[in-house]
Amino acid sequence: MHDPRRVGVLISGRGSNMRALAEKANGYRVVLIGSNKPQAPGLEWARERGLQTWAKDSKGVEKEQFDRELSRVLDEHAIGTIALAGFMRILSPWFVQRWSGRIVNIHPSLLPKYRGLDTHARAIEAGDAVSGCSVHVVTEELDAGEVLGQTEVAVEPGDTAASLELRVLAAEHELYPKILSEFVNR
Ligand code: GRF
Repeated sequence: MHDPRRVGVLISGRGSNMRALAEKANGYRVVLIGSNKPQAPGLEWARERGLQTWAKDSKGVEKEQFDRELSRVLDEHAIGTIALAGFMRILSPWFVQRWSGRIVNIHPSLLPKYRGLDTHARAIEAGDAVSGCSVHVVTEELDAGEVLGQTEVAVEPGDTAASLELRVLAAEHELYPKILSEFVNR
């Protein structure tokens, strides 16, 4: 098994959590940024920063075939832990088993509440006084693996999904590097 402190971060978009993981890396090293969207804005930042990147458009590619290629690239870089950071793609059972117990994700709700999308709108709609974010182990069931850490964020009167998202995102950027460091060194 590769060193768990060698981390590969997978993104599909802006990559603000990727950036937090790289900038606050402590007890682990971000070795590779991977993406299923070659145009993901986060890739630009990673390249400017001198991080190694790998990107391939997953559109139209058979799921497991894509995942096998991704897995090979992660192996080539001797990645020991995969951190999903806004990776908008459900991984194949093959991939999840291959990397079992070595994939983590950040999710913008207090799991087990609000798995899936639109978490902030759902929290507001439900009248929750508190929302937040969770780092969890990735299993085959969506957003359902062991929760490794959470941060609560108060829902303020008048909050919209966008305003709540901003505050939760700031909490994500603190929580994710801290929990990842604990996870890879446990
Ligand atoms: C974050 O809200 C994260 O919790 C969710 O996807 C979003 C990614 O944002 N999994 P970013 O690309 O890290 O800025």
